[in-house]
Amino acid sequence: GGAGALAPDLAGRRVVISAGGTREPLDPVRYLGNRSSGKQGWALARVAAARGAQVVLVAANVELPAPFGVRVVPAGTAEDLRTAVLAEAADADVVVMAAAVADFRPATVAGTKLKKGSAAEPSAVPLVRNPDVLAELVAERRAGRLVVGFAAETGDADGDVLAHARAKLARKGCDLLVVNDVSGGRVFGRSDNAAVVLAADGTATELAEGSKDAVAAGVWSTVVPRLS
Ligand code: CTP
Ligand code: CA
Repeated sequence: GGAGALAPDLAGRRVVISAGGTREPLDPVRYLGNRSSGKQGWALARVAAARGAQVVLVAANVELPAPFGVRVVPAGTAEDLRTAVLAEAADADVVVMAAAVADFRPATVAGTKLKKGSAAEPSAVPLVRNPDVLAELVAERRAGRLVVGFAAETGDADGDVLAHARAKLARKGCDLLVVNDVSGGRVFGRSDNAAVVLAADGTATELAEGSKDAVAAGVWSTVVPRLS
């Protein structure tokens, strides 16, 4: 199409996207969090809406304004995000888990602020596992729904980025896994991004380095031919 024109190849599709990073409370004023900005999830929502989808963005601690035409559902913790995503996913054609969901949360949350010098002054923070939302989406997926995961990986002694990503895709059981190489502090909080989309059928689609909107467009172009 011409400049700015986008094929409405997601028209009539219901899309749920999680974005941002969960915060797991320690006491009324403190939390364990992560550095996810929510920008990639926002870009996915913006691009999907522009291509005709009906979009719900489940947003964990993101301050950005709602993209045009997108319904934003706020979620603070992993537990909140799980509740919101599973509810919104009920009639979705595609669910994209772009959020950084905390793997662990403090085992107990103090009802009052932890004070220096008090008897309750902690020397360690016991953690418990959070639910794996992506795994639950895969377990309850109905025929025809696509479940897309995200993974930020680094290469290490056990394998390169793609080897880790292929193992994660197999472990998670999702249809597509969008893989970011975060070796050397890349990606987080930056607007430029590069990714590979791995599919359960073994194909790998490389998305050229570009803006998060460009990466989002590449992700949707990989999703569209797989929709029933
Ligand atoms: N995810 C999720 N629920 C969690 C943790 C992760 O839904 N409790 C989702 C993320 O949103 C992402 C995908 O799972 O789409 C992969 O997240 P990642 O942290 O890479 O996977 P983990 O299985 O937690 O592996 P790791 O031990 O490497 O963190
Ligand atoms: Ca994790």
